Amino acid sequence: MPVPEAARAVDAAPGVRLAVRDLTMRYGNGHTALSNLSLSVHAGEMVVVLGSNGSGKSTLMKCVVGLNRPTGGSVEVGGRDLARLSGNALRWARLPLALISQHANLVKRRSVLANVCCGTLGRHRTLATAFGRMPRKEVEPSLACLEEVGLLHLAGQRAGTLSGGQAQRVAVARALAQRPHVLLADEPVASLDPEAADDVMRLLRRLATDDGLAVVCVLHQPELASRYADRLVGLRHGRMEFDRPASAVSSQQIASLYMAEGS
Ligand SMILES: Nc1ncnc2c1ncn2[C@@H]1O[C@H](COP(=O)(O)OP(=O)(O)OP(=O)(O)O)[C@@H](O)[C@H]1O
Ligand SMILES: [Mg+2]
Repeated sequence: MPVPEAARAVDAAPGVRLAVRDLTMRYGNGHTALSNLSLSVHAGEMVVVLGSNGSGKSTLMKCVVGLNRPTGGSVEVGGRDLARLSGNALRWARLPLALISQHANLVKRRSVLANVCCGTLGRHRTLATAFGRMPRKEVEPSLACLEEVGLLHLAGQRAGTLSGGQAQRVAVARALAQRPHVLLADEPVASLDPEAADDVMRLLRRLATDDGLAVVCVLHQPELASRYADRLVGLRHGRMEFDRPASAVSSQQIASLYMAEGS
């Protein structure tokens, strides 16, 4: 029987964890939020996406994790084009991707450990998970994820008692419990003070360098971006303005992303 088009593996270059090609996203109201955007991210690499409000950064992240269905182009992860998949095939194909966002979105009345364990639920289909119980075999790995973010000592604490910085690190641990190859972070430090923001950025950097994750992070802080990223990607009106090593991007280039048209 011929392999269905959608299930066919795609060839990615060695070491490339995420390959976005010619991605276009036009919303139902006719607005084109992304136009022909291409981006590759390697294992161990940290890419920061910059751009003004409405430039398409979150749309890009949502298209990559399959929350938005792109109107054109491909999103290749683990040898599959997510843009061509749906239903259970998409659900399984996107397991190597984890997304964290501005708000940690923890279940406040549950323990830190239970929240981290939630990250493993995508891999389970048991009745226990339907009732939100922790799969026993996931407890040890979840504790290891908490150790990775330096919060093992808070495992038994109620999530509602955490500071914003701690909660965001627990969100990173929950993402790690998914055992992702690609970690996407949409404004992960937007609600944090400078010290907590630095902690989270340092953590993301370490996950790329030491654990080989491909990290894509949206930021509104060019200074943090230049300090932590290998590469900077600049978006303007849904188009890519630049994709260059962080050390090669000038402050004028960054500033131009935030200037009004014609100024
Ligand atoms: N569901 C939607 N339907 C229609 N238009 C949308 C939808 N979601 C986003 N948009 C539009 O797409 C454009 C890009 O939005 P997006 O949220 O990706 O921007 P962003 O770069 O993440 O902005 P911010 O920095 O404010 O988070 C905006 O003009 C927005 O209004
Ligand atoms: Mg956004």
